[in-house]
Amino acid sequence: MALHTLVELLEMTPPGMPVMAFNYSCLEDLRGIVEAAESERTPVVIQATSTTIQHSGIHYVAALGRAAGMAAKVPVCLQLDHGHDVGMVAQAIELGFTSVMIDGSELPFDENVRLTQEVARLAHEAGVSVEAELGRIVRNDNGQSRPCVGDECLTDPDEAKLFVELTGVDALAPAVGTVHGHYRGYPIIRFDLLSAIAENAGVPLVLHGASGVPYDMLKKSVTMGIRKVNITTELYAAHADALKRALAGVWSANARDMRKASQAAVDAVRAVAVSKIRMFCY
Ligand code: 13P
Ligand code: ZN
Repeated sequence: MALHTLVELLEMTPPGMPVMAFNYSCLEDLRGIVEAAESERTPVVIQATSTTIQHSGIHYVAALGRAAGMAAKVPVCLQLDHGHDVGMVAQAIELGFTSVMIDGSELPFDENVRLTQEVARLAHEAGVSVEAELGRIVRNDNGQSRPCVGDECLTDPDEAKLFVELTGVDALAPAVGTVHGHYRGYPIIRFDLLSAIAENAGVPLVLHGASGVPYDMLKKSVTMGIRKVNITTELYAAHADALKRALAGVWSANARDMRKASQAAVDAVRAVAVSKIRMFCY
């Protein structure tokens, strides 16, 4: 199948259901994600973040994503996740990504607008969708705290309206309390803010930092304007744990063929992706 843009995937998805977006860092992640989407017969976004691109090189990352999308039996969008500069976005578009996220969230509002405008112009000329971030969805790698649920990082609903008008993005990732990585304790989502942003923005909203967010909160966020849900941390944790178990146990000390161990990672990623997809189907 040909790859689809994010806008196309959103159009294929019934209202009240989000498009699920899963990050991959290697072939095993991709196989698990695509197998899950195929078994659940649902379109899916496969996305690679700029740190994965820095790690493996954009040519490998793009080729893997394109191959997975073309071979999949369900519609697939290939998205650059958290791109930080125009150069990487341009290269991603050239290499076949069908959606790009530009993350100017560390910049002052005006500079974020200017960067996002430039990316939107470039992407739209190439028929590629654009997601952008406003407010700052921080990373909490060690699970020690929720470092930035204070007002200074959260998205202002009035700014959201202006930002979308000025940039023409297709989807907006607002900061409403979720964080990337592991949560310590219970996540806090500012549903009051989410509702105001949804009303103002007028474009589909994206929930970043959705790993570890309980079912009822995810469901509620979808009723309030979230149309794309991003999952990375839970997939990567399942992958790493399965690989460790396979290498330590079932896989004997004399084994030298990595395929057996890496199959355990594929199976673990697929199980997590299936469970996330099913959250919204039943
Ligand atoms: P998690 O770390 O919660 O999985 O967030 C994923 C994400 O937002 C990818 O952009
Ligand atoms: Zn994110």
